Amino acid sequence: MAQRVQQIASHLAAPKMSEALFAQVPLAPPDSILQLPIRYKADPAEKKINLSVGAYRDNEGRPWVLPVVKKATEKMLNDPGMDHEYLPIVGLPEFTSAAAKLILGTESKALKEDRVVSIQTLSGTGANHVGALFLSRFYAWNGPRELYISKPTWGNHKSIMTNVGITPVEYPYYDPATISFNLEGMLSALSAAPERSVILLHACAHNPTGVDPTPAQWEKVADAMLEKKHYAFFDCAYQGFASGDLDRDAAALRYFEQRGVPMLVCQSFAKNAGLYGERVGALHVLCADKDEASRVRSQLSIIERSEISNPPAYGARLMAMIINDPELFKQWNADIKTMAERIISMREQLYDILTKELHTPGKWDHITTQIGMFSFTGLNTEQVQTMIENGHVYMTADGRISMAGLNTSNVRYFAETLDKVVRGQL
Ligand SMILES: Cc1ncc(COP(=O)(O)O)c(C=O)c1O
Repeated sequence: MAQRVQQIASHLAAPKMSEALFAQVPLAPPDSILQLPIRYKADPAEKKINLSVGAYRDNEGRPWVLPVVKKATEKMLNDPGMDHEYLPIVGLPEFTSAAAKLILGTESKALKEDRVVSIQTLSGTGANHVGALFLSRFYAWNGPRELYISKPTWGNHKSIMTNVGITPVEYPYYDPATISFNLEGMLSALSAAPERSVILLHACAHNPTGVDPTPAQWEKVADAMLEKKHYAFFDCAYQGFASGDLDRDAAALRYFEQRGVPMLVCQSFAKNAGLYGERVGALHVLCADKDEASRVRSQLSIIERSEISNPPAYGARLMAMIINDPELFKQWNADIKTMAERIISMREQLYDILTKELHTPGKWDHITTQIGMFSFTGLNTEQVQTMIENGHVYMTADGRISMAGLNTSNVRYFAETLDKVVRGQL
């Protein structure tokens, strides 16, 4: 009995030891983007707007479940063959093959020649992670493991790369003076980079700037990539969501394939299908031939096995049905248009109020020329602070707003607040 009591007492003392083991762990700084919705919620102001969140909202400011997703879910639940077994390690084949066709297009030479390796991933983030991990282990690096990212870029790219031992290096992309794409800066960085560098490119709707190269500018970027034999790491999180047209938003990366730029593609169905929390995505590696493809597939399978064992089934089943069933596919295209057109119309309304009614000082063309969910307003950090504190309009410190947070009820208030801050009257 005494021995038992002693055993229990030593168990109770255990937490102290484990506390000491992590005593040196520093407290990480809070994620500034995730803090904004918390501050927004706590703000008692009657008129307030949250433009910090990267998710679609309908005209009432609510999350939107796509009608096609509702239909496909119903169909899936009524399928007597539906079960909850594990998917294959590299994913649901009907999903990965449909996803590859959707992004690369039916004319893809690599697809026709059966040399694309497609695996299911935990949404776009997972595709970026597995793609980077694969490159860090197997890419024919020409010097240190460095990967070029645009300045600025999606906040997660840097951490995803450093997590797998790749050093992110920035290339110029956005010119704050003109609020537009810095083609010359990007081209000179591409030409200065060592041969066979890995260059991360946003396929469409660049996050966070909303600034995309034009087709003629993409042509020049492709020339520079080919010249130095660079490898394209395409991140495509917004296919269809940007312009309302799935093919149009994939045009740049399809063009790169035609030109023969070696590449991998990270694909997400979070935004274009509103499946944010379901984590549906894919990674496509375009290989030189079938033999290379089978070797790449075997290594990706090992990576996937050790990372997640098997990918999640629900979202992949939904997307496989939606892409493969002509009627559901048609409905999805219409749903995508609904989202893209609402965002485009908010851009137009905002532009009109600023330029035709309020005559806000400055140039505002970028509001309508930028594309996708995000817009770089051009406001500086101080102006953003004033927008939040005095105007109760929540946006990221870099001046980025999510257009999806605007609607017919709040766009005027936003425009008026923006106008005041620009005039120094807020
Ligand atoms: C450029 C970019 N890549 C990847 C992602 C990944 O999103 P998810 O993991 O939700 O698919 C996002 C999401 O905001 C993004 O903007």
